[in-house]
Amino acid sequence: MSEPILDVRDLVVEYPTPAGPFRAVDDVSFAVAAGSTLAVVGESGCGKSTIARSLVRLLTPTSGSILLGGRDIARLGERHLRPLRPRIQMVFQDPYGSLDPRLSAAEIVGEPLRLHGVRSRTERTREAAALLDRVGLPAHALDRRPAEFSGGQRQRIGIARALASRPEVLVCDEATSALDVSVQAQVLALLREIQRESSLTYLFISHDLAVVREISDQIVVMRKGSLVERGPTERVLAAPGHPYTRALRAAALDPSTTRGRKPRAATATTAGGAVR
Ligand SMILES: Nc1ncnc2c1ncn2[C@@H]1O[C@H](COP(=O)(O)OP(=O)(O)O)[C@@H](O)[C@H]1O
Ligand SMILES: [Mg+2]
Repeated sequence: MSEPILDVRDLVVEYPTPAGPFRAVDDVSFAVAAGSTLAVVGESGCGKSTIARSLVRLLTPTSGSILLGGRDIARLGERHLRPLRPRIQMVFQDPYGSLDPRLSAAEIVGEPLRLHGVRSRTERTREAAALLDRVGLPAHALDRRPAEFSGGQRQRIGIARALASRPEVLVCDEATSALDVSVQAQVLALLREIQRESSLTYLFISHDLAVVREISDQIVVMRKGSLVERGPTERVLAAPGHPYTRALRAAALDPSTTRGRKPRAATATTAGGAVR
């Protein structure tokens, strides 16, 4: 692999609990080549979001390093972190909960631009419009608030907001999991198109192997905080080496489980009568 854009080494994350520290991520290492997509898969609770939150430094890991373009950001203080934050951005699972309901789409997408020094409001609106157009939203979307959009459209706004920082790495934490299968496919297609255009690197977190098969080059499989398998997506899914990966794959193929690509029922996050 050429020099990885993201190189995670011996990552440990512990949460304080009344019963003592709980180790949610236990000595995890992986690297992601620039312009490629690494999927992190595993059951609910295995530590995927904890990794995501560490990478974008919403939390500080207990130990280990996170090399972003060769620079270790794992334990950097906020002052040194701030200029690096734009380089690695996150798209969250719940596009509703992660978008301020009081702001218009233009303001939501414009906010990172403001933080990154685009002072003129007119200029921010112009850039926000270009970003919303890039993620496939119409011009009239600019003045609307999150509640006026469908789940898929809200996720597009979340992607536009992340892109506003001109990141090199995008961490997508279950970014399409709350969406209907058809909407999910559209958002995945958009992510792929953006990657083709701008050679973004993705860390794509999902519990859904069907989605992961479509989007990723490499996979790491997590179980209870540890990494149990890694390799090229095709190889790992065609011939899993670890019993746990085989079990995950069997569950994904079994239509009686919720891990298959069944259409999901509308969830609370899509309430409000918005069309998808
Ligand atoms: N703030 C927290 N305090 C204590 N335990 C937590 C906290 N956040 C997550 N956990 C625990 O850490 C483990 C990993 O959680 P998470 O990273 O959210 O997993 P995933 O995203 O794979 O579902 C789970 O057992 C979860 O209950
Ligand atoms: Mg999670």
